Amino acid sequence: MANVVVIGAQWGDEGKGKIVDWLSARADVVVRFQGGHNAGHTLVVGNQVYKLSLLPSGVVRGTLSVIGNGVVFDPWHFRDEVERLSGQGVKLMPEVLQVAENAPLILPFHGDLDALREDASGAGKIGTTRRGIGPAYEDKVGRRALRVCDLADLEGAAPQIDRLLAHHNALRAGFGVEPIDRDRLLRDLAEIAPSVLPFVAPVWQTLATKRRQRARILFEGAQGVLLDVDHGTYPFVTSSNVVAGQASAGSGMGPGAINYVLGIVKAYTTRVGSGPFPTELDDEIGQRLGERGREFGTVTGRKRRCGWFDATLVKQSIALSGVDGIALTKLDVLDGFDELLVCTGYELDGKALDHFPASARQQAAIRPVYERFEGWSESTQGARSWADLPAAAIKYIRRIEELIDCPVALVSTSPERDDTILVRDPFRD
Ligand code: IMP
Repeated sequence: MANVVVIGAQWGDEGKGKIVDWLSARADVVVRFQGGHNAGHTLVVGNQVYKLSLLPSGVVRGTLSVIGNGVVFDPWHFRDEVERLSGQGVKLMPEVLQVAENAPLILPFHGDLDALREDASGAGKIGTTRRGIGPAYEDKVGRRALRVCDLADLEGAAPQIDRLLAHHNALRAGFGVEPIDRDRLLRDLAEIAPSVLPFVAPVWQTLATKRRQRARILFEGAQGVLLDVDHGTYPFVTSSNVVAGQASAGSGMGPGAINYVLGIVKAYTTRVGSGPFPTELDDEIGQRLGERGREFGTVTGRKRRCGWFDATLVKQSIALSGVDGIALTKLDVLDGFDELLVCTGYELDGKALDHFPASARQQAAIRPVYERFEGWSESTQGARSWADLPAAAIKYIRRIEELIDCPVALVSTSPERDDTILVRDPFRD
């Protein structure tokens, strides 16, 4: 038995979709453990393209898929995503899809608050997906959230609803917007409940049973470690823990259930939204990376910022998540560059720094120190073995392994599922 956690080791959009799909074809259970419908996973199966934001990737293959308690759950988005998949021929039944009864709900006023704050923040805005993720997590830790189980007993949840609305109405008054219409909210919740309740379960119990049966469990992370609320580029982060350790707390399984952590790492760096990005390229090289890599957000359509590979940041993510091996993605985007740069450390006030600092002022002030590599003119697209790669590309990969202190388990050389060089199977016992 080997249970695998997949996490993004940069700022998200590392190409998790393809790798997770490849692994989910061999998993017995796929589990989401943090984030919500701010994620965007594109899966290509045969000639069908599936775009998922909230549902675990296993759903498209009929693998048991679980939305854990660590996820913030928008019931309307859930219904729409289930219906969209149904239109693509994927019929989802409670036998293959379960939602944790203790997952907090994202309600319409969470999205309102997300947008109101972003609009009021001017240049200091975070650049969120405006899907209410942060406000929903705030209510969870503030102990006033409604949870999935409350959909089955809205009457019993009345005192909690009052607490929640009192909090939000005070905030809304501060922004000069109308208070929440309680009756309408209750009507909307009663209307959406039947679309969700058949899927609701104590998923920790399902997972405990599966573990006893020695099923293969795949934990599917969303976003990336540098967006982790504790360890990321705070405050320009998402509001959940993204590190691999969250797979345990966010699903209700003990940490011993995790046998292997696979970090997904793009061969260069991208970021959507605001915040520090030491190796960002604001020139034609950055432009070229964005065009070659088709770097546009799946959820918001925003153009991603692009830059050189930052080995210092990735090394940090790998340590923070206990990554055992990486999947290096989008290597082919680097084809045809004369020279490639990799950040190996920073300089701060004239002194060398071997890690990314926590202070926002220092984060803004650091300068990357680069190592230079010869590029390659040959195409690596579609390579399926080391022998298919030019020597300069192999050198680049080997040096990255050294710099980040972690071996490559997989190299992905195109969006096609089979265009992958497999070094170590993460599910191997
Ligand atoms: P939020 O998660 O919507 O609150 O957004 C907070 C930050 O995380 C913003 O910089 C978003 O662009 C970023 N973010 C959230 N989800 C993703 C994702 O799936 N991929 C990449 N960035 C994301």
